[in-house]
Amino acid sequence: MLASRRILLIVGGGIAAYKALDLIRRLRERGAEVVPVLTRGGAEFVTPLSVSALAGRKVFSDLFDLTDEAEMGHIELSRSADLIVVAPATADLMAKMAHGHADDLASTLLLATDTPVLLAPAMNVRMWQHPATQRNIATLKADGIGFVGPDVGDMACGEHGPGRLAEVPQIVDAIGAALADGPLAGRRVLLTSGPTHEPIDPVRYIANRSSGAQGAAIARELAALGAEVVFVTGPATVPPPGGVEVIRVETAQEMLAAVEGALPADAAIFAAAVADWRVVGASTRKIKKGAGGTPALEFAENPDILATVSAMEAGRPRLVVGFAAETCDVIGHATAKRARKGCDWIVANDVSHATGIMGGTENAVTLITGDGEEEWPRMGKREVARKLAERVARALA
Ligand code: C5P
Repeated sequence: MLASRRILLIVGGGIAAYKALDLIRRLRERGAEVVPVLTRGGAEFVTPLSVSALAGRKVFSDLFDLTDEAEMGHIELSRSADLIVVAPATADLMAKMAHGHADDLASTLLLATDTPVLLAPAMNVRMWQHPATQRNIATLKADGIGFVGPDVGDMACGEHGPGRLAEVPQIVDAIGAALADGPLAGRRVLLTSGPTHEPIDPVRYIANRSSGAQGAAIARELAALGAEVVFVTGPATVPPPGGVEVIRVETAQEMLAAVEGALPADAAIFAAAVADWRVVGASTRKIKKGAGGTPALEFAENPDILATVSAMEAGRPRLVVGFAAETCDVIGHATAKRARKGCDWIVANDVSHATGIMGGTENAVTLITGDGEEEWPRMGKREVARKLAERVARALA
């Protein structure tokens, strides 16, 4: 997907600039050509020599370099790429972009281009949260600029929160998705993934063992085939891939609201392990141990998101896919589930302990459609995801 694609990589100024060096390697490993541009700030953190050695070509950095202008003007430089990536994208560079400034090579290239642009922001938490930055981001999104990250986590400045540069594999995924022109180009696919957490009180909740691995893999493969993916995820342990729109939720009710808000879509795949029940009247205060004995929890049934969407009269996605994790009579239960839920396909698997599938790296599934059942051999979750994404592409063709 990245082979022979030309990526203009603008490395902005920030401590995360060192990760851009690894990004260059990973992109070249995949056959991409990387044309590097280093801002003045970027050059304070990584040297032009390291950047050009890894990219295997000269690094552009000065707006008024007469040799460069003679060889390749900045307009040409910005337009000959398949994609422009800014990593790390600083608050300052985003502000310049949002306001159309062009006072150095990077901002001039970004203003002069008609090539798609993907930003991987990285900055201090407060800078990220500042209303000015958020305003600029909204402007850039409205202009059609793509984003990957930032992540939430510990930062070099010692603070914690949103602002960390997305991890390199996530940026590579996002680049792959931005360049994808596969059979799902122009299709919007909604995907639920991960577990849900149903609160008992502010510190306790009911959860399940879903890692979100299979859902994340499906999202990645759908995006790689060119789909616009909306990834509604519960608190999973496996991070979402880059290149998809991530909507984070905790409870089943929040997941349903997010799904309804994200429709319409051409296809919807429900890979989440949604809690069947929630606790009625979850306490707003921590329940105390005491003389009252053990608390009695009362449960209410959660909405069935798959069944709700399958039964939609207006705006039902053309293809609705559910999952069935069973521990016995897999095909029998899954076939009955397909009819009961009203979905088009069921991806059924045996999650009994002996299979090692739940939480493992492999999966053995049977695809149940209106035409019958199709048993897939045991394979990696990534291969299952790829095969399913290809089937979805065929169904929507
Ligand atoms: O009924 P069961 O939980 O076995 O069904 C599994 C399928 O239904 C999965 O696709 C799951 O994502 C979906 N589901 C849902 N909402 C629920 C329960 C399950 O979307 N409340």
